[in-house]
Amino acid sequence: MKQVSLARFLIEAQRAGQINADLRLLIEIVARACKAISHAVSKGELGGVLGDAGTGNIQGEAQKKLDVLSNEILIEANEWGGHLAGCASEEEEHPVPIPNAFPKGNYLLLFDPLDGSSNIDVNISVGTIFSVLRCPEGVTEPTAEHYLQPGTAQLAAGYTVYGPSTMLVLTVGHGTHAFTLDRELGSFILTERDMRIPEDTKEFAINMSNMRHWYPPMRSYIEELLAGKTGPRGKDFNMRWVASMVADVHRILSRGGIFIYPRDTKDASKPGKLRLMYEANPMSFIVEQAGGASTNGLQRIMEIQPEELHQRVPVFLGSKNEVEVATRYHREAQR
Ligand code: AHG
Ligand code: MN
Ligand code: MN
Repeated sequence: MKQVSLARFLIEAQRAGQINADLRLLIEIVARACKAISHAVSKGELGGVLGDAGTGNIQGEAQKKLDVLSNEILIEANEWGGHLAGCASEEEEHPVPIPNAFPKGNYLLLFDPLDGSSNIDVNISVGTIFSVLRCPEGVTEPTAEHYLQPGTAQLAAGYTVYGPSTMLVLTVGHGTHAFTLDRELGSFILTERDMRIPEDTKEFAINMSNMRHWYPPMRSYIEELLAGKTGPRGKDFNMRWVASMVADVHRILSRGGIFIYPRDTKDASKPGKLRLMYEANPMSFIVEQAGGASTNGLQRIMEIQPEELHQRVPVFLGSKNEVEVATRYHREAQR
């Protein structure tokens, strides 16, 4: 069978009128940057990329060397191409402008350069997440407010998981498709067209150590899953938690499941841990395009009107019917 490279896939998407040439270039450049990150990740200790950078980011989190390096790789790869009006990153407090030396384009790129930082030094899967928005008409120097568009405005979203193999999962609003990196060829090859998430599941992903900090509906939902076959749900559930959102979501896209990072009482100023603009929104777009669902417990994540670039949200995503059940618990509690 003829192999379909990412380049060919994107040309065909362009011919089908799903993307234009600029967006195609943008996605190709992001994919190229992800190859460079994949290379650095796979070198591990030998590449001198493990350990702390000795700096902190706007989230108040200690940065790893790979957080900083991946951020640099993505910015450098994208700033000269002429397709971007600007970009925003988990590792940058403010949006990053395109240097005046380069032409500017119409797109805004948002990313989590390295997701799953706590797994870097222990050789467990990490990833990159990205989201593409259109820069508002007439804006040439976008500021944070121009990025504050709901997830439904995304033109493309994707992630790369640096696991036993490196995979890129992408949507431009016409299904979710997976590509595997052929390291010898240096190109991403389409390995699954139109991924579909099973509607029902017996597997959940959550950090159980936070249970004592959860709100009542969250506790009763999980207690009912834990009760298994003889409990109200009438079936046994299994649990998995990689602590890299990219890896957990990739498993759910592949075999179903529900991923949850709820709001909790640990820090009242933080409504959840995950960031709306470059974690929750792109993952929601990818999951919905594969037939799954994604809410913050009360409403569809992609319909939230963002208020801040680094805003956090509770996240419930994955198998449609299970996300509906978990969301119902929260809606009922609110009433
Ligand atoms: P990041 O490394 O980009 O800050 O994101 C980490 C996130 C996400 O990948 C993961 O699901 C979650 O944090 C893990 O949280 P816990 O450490 O609470 O398990
Ligand atoms: Mn992350
Ligand atoms: Mn990160």
